[in-house]
Amino acid sequence: MHLPADQLPIEARYKLLTGTVIPRPVAVVSTLSTEGVTNLAPFSYFNIVGHAPLALSFAVAGPKPDGTLKDTLRNAHLPAQGGTGEFVVNIATEHYAVQMARTATPLAVGRSCLVIGEIVYVHIDDALIDGRFRVDFEQLRALGRMAGSRYARTSDTFLLDDENFPPGTR
Ligand SMILES: Cc1cc2nc3c(=O)[nH]c(=O)nc-3n(C[C@H](O)[C@H](O)[C@H](O)COP(=O)(O)O)c2cc1C
Repeated sequence: MHLPADQLPIEARYKLLTGTVIPRPVAVVSTLSTEGVTNLAPFSYFNIVGHAPLALSFAVAGPKPDGTLKDTLRNAHLPAQGGTGEFVVNIATEHYAVQMARTATPLAVGRSCLVIGEIVYVHIDDALIDGRFRVDFEQLRALGRMAGSRYARTSDTFLLDDENFPPGTR
């Protein structure tokens, strides 16, 4: 099937993208409004931007069904745009998968905003990390989002043999 992107309806674009770019990590983003109201929502259009500076990004797709900005985006906006300019990203894990899903409402896809944040503070459970900053993924049990309401575990992994990596690439 050959599908020119500009001829695809929004719903098809969403389904093709979220059905093929899998599994995606899920950021559970907490923000504060300028009035001090707390907000939590999951985002799987989420990834690393770089480590120097330490930065990550997530994309907020479309407005809420009533046409207003999603609360996360409104709160994360810079102060000049009415927000606090700050947000916290929590990694979604199996331990609280149900609660994570309940913080979301159906996704209406339209115009997207990419939010890039510089990380100024890292909080990680001591039990998950060793003295060389290696994270124990088996204990972390991070979730991956597939399409719709299907999720992947990160427990089924495999190693590539060392000889497959050119010198200096690992
Ligand atoms: C696992 C999961 C991942 C999601 N990923 C995104 C995303 O990347 N971008 C987005 O705009 N909405 C995403 N949503 C939908 C938002 O979480 C939902 O619109 C939420 O209500 C926004 O809340 P807010 O208005 O408090 O920011 C996702 C929902 C779930 C359950």
